[in-house]
Amino acid sequence: MKQTVKKGKIHPEFEPGTVWLTGAGPGDPGLLTLHALHALQHADIIVYDALVSEDVLAFARDGVTLEYAGKRGGRPSAKQTDISLRLVELAREGKRVLRLKGGDPFVFGRGGEEALVLTEAGIPFRVIPGITSGLAALTMAGIPATTRTTNHAVILATGHPADADHPADWAALARSGQPLVLYMARRNLAQIANTLMANGLGAETPVAVMVEATTPRARIIETHLAEAASDMTAADIDTPAIIAIGSIVSLRAQLAPQLQTNWPATESEI
Ligand SMILES: C[S@@+](CC[C@H](N)C(=O)[O-])C[C@H]1O[C@@H](n2cnc3c(N)ncnc32)[C@H](O)[C@@H]1O
Repeated sequence: MKQTVKKGKIHPEFEPGTVWLTGAGPGDPGLLTLHALHALQHADIIVYDALVSEDVLAFARDGVTLEYAGKRGGRPSAKQTDISLRLVELAREGKRVLRLKGGDPFVFGRGGEEALVLTEAGIPFRVIPGITSGLAALTMAGIPATTRTTNHAVILATGHPADADHPADWAALARSGQPLVLYMARRNLAQIANTLMANGLGAETPVAVMVEATTPRARIIETHLAEAASDMTAADIDTPAIIAIGSIVSLRAQLAPQLQTNWPATESEI
């Protein structure tokens, strides 16, 4: 029997004096949520991060104020506390504030810290999830995050711990035997790979480095744990990358013949 879906109003009201902490996804504007698109078209001001692509910002309402709050690209760094306080200030001015962050705001995105400051300041806010780059990169590269025969978990980890006194327990992650999806791990990859190998991961463990995933500049390097750091150096990568480590990476080769993707099939074809 045909189900009738009632098409109601799907978006909450973007009220003046509130902040929407919103995920912009990994870069491809086609991967924005409808709520994020609605926010882009109804905000008074958009405070955005370096990882928010220009292709996404192109969907903003004409005349909206765009304020950059990024932390890379040679531009002066905004301090996290300053960004959070700026959100409070703008909301108190009665603006509809869109805080736009790459991927998902609560996945390695410091959205939690901003939400705490807003809470303490008594500013009403909403959180709009976005597609996190780690999972988007895998999927678009043709690497299933899970299959029933390869893994029962997938670990998202940062290669750049915020607190040097509490580094990630790479030995425990290696022993888990589950695939690792690493954010912000480019600079520390050599050290991470050595620790993983010292704790049981084989030198031949498949690795995929997915650079600027889902954007027109996307690149992928397929390699193995022992050579991953040197291959990345040789490829001269200095833009955001997700590094996947584990047997799931090999599935890409099996899917490649029929997979329609804008991604290059291998680094050599770039
Ligand atoms: C501060 S974290 C932000 C993560 C974001 N909140 C998310 O959910 O994707 C920045 C890291 O995300 C990863 N990243 C973000 N966008 C990416 C993309 N399009 N391709 C590859 N890696 C990306 C990189 O590892 C980068 O160093």
